[in-house]
Amino acid sequence: MVKSFSTFYRHIIEEERKYPEATGQLSDLLADIALACKVISLEVNRAGLIDILGFTGEENVQGEEVKKLDVYANDVLKYVMKQGGHTCAVCSEEEESFIPIDDKFKKNKFVSNKYICHFDPLDGSSNIDVNVSIGTIFSVYKRVTSSGPGALIDCLQKGTEQVAAGYVIYGSSTMLVYTTGEGVHGFTLDPSVGEFLLSNENIKIPEKSKTYSVNEGNFSKWQKEVRDYITYLKDTDPETSRPYSSRYIGSLVADFHRNLLYGGIFLYPSDIKNKNGKLRLMYEANPLSFLVEQAGGRSSDGAGRILDIEPKNLHQRTPLFIGSAEDVKLAEKFLARENKHPD
Ligand code: AHG
Ligand code: MN
Ligand code: MN
Repeated sequence: MVKSFSTFYRHIIEEERKYPEATGQLSDLLADIALACKVISLEVNRAGLIDILGFTGEENVQGEEVKKLDVYANDVLKYVMKQGGHTCAVCSEEEESFIPIDDKFKKNKFVSNKYICHFDPLDGSSNIDVNVSIGTIFSVYKRVTSSGPGALIDCLQKGTEQVAAGYVIYGSSTMLVYTTGEGVHGFTLDPSVGEFLLSNENIKIPEKSKTYSVNEGNFSKWQKEVRDYITYLKDTDPETSRPYSSRYIGSLVADFHRNLLYGGIFLYPSDIKNKNGKLRLMYEANPLSFLVEQAGGRSSDGAGRILDIEPKNLHQRTPLFIGSAEDVKLAEKFLARENKHPD
């Protein structure tokens, strides 16, 4: 079967045409994010060369400032969002507070800066120097204030209010995976033409899997119900495909991407050190939860749906259980102590 040929921009325009009242701004915003990630991808692929080419300390041989990749990724995204004219505020893991953007960058009087974006500019940054896949995560909402620069209320909306979400994974190839609520679609960057080409249309995550993804080094710090769940997955029972395989890359985007395509559950529970877990609600859990639900999966903080959480602050953390629906449901049962004696 010939795959339908399409580029990312073509795909978003076709989605836009389904809504006659659409102004095209979301399409342009998503195209801007894709452009920013292409620029980041170039730098990520050069990262290993930074030392080899004599780029040392803060200045390289050309006297250019050499930035840490996550600071560089953050700067590129902020610049492109400002120049794009479609956002009234940008929030980032690298920024203490939200960055209001006034509407002087608007392209013309027909458009308004009606969106806000949350970014994890570079996820998995501890893996940069060892050539392991890393990524950029994005989440888009419509503003709730009427005009001018955005306000905090625009930036603290429930995950269910997202209008788009996705990530770019800088791995053996650079892939963009996104949703606007019409399914999940994947695009692979063809560097020779500089386009993200459609490679995975309508991604669906397998209902049930045989893979779990967690940092087992935290085992002794977890509550008993989580320890019982992981122990259960490692018991032998061919009927329930146990023992599961363990896969943990340490880059959320990479672990999530593998589970999205092959099936699996990723968990980062709370523990005695991280009372609310380690991962951030607004720019890690919410965008990936929108994606996984659109792909038929499930995402929970162990007790309830991630997307229903009312955010209190920009950098708040949450426990995260995300992936194949049946696996997440079973994990929730263990946490609710409904599964004292595994069936
Ligand atoms: P970031 O690099 O954006 O700070 O995110 C790192 C996160 C996430 O990518 C990954 O799943 C998790 O940290 C790994 O944490 P541990 O090293 O504690 O397992
Ligand atoms: Mn991250
Ligand atoms: Mn990060």
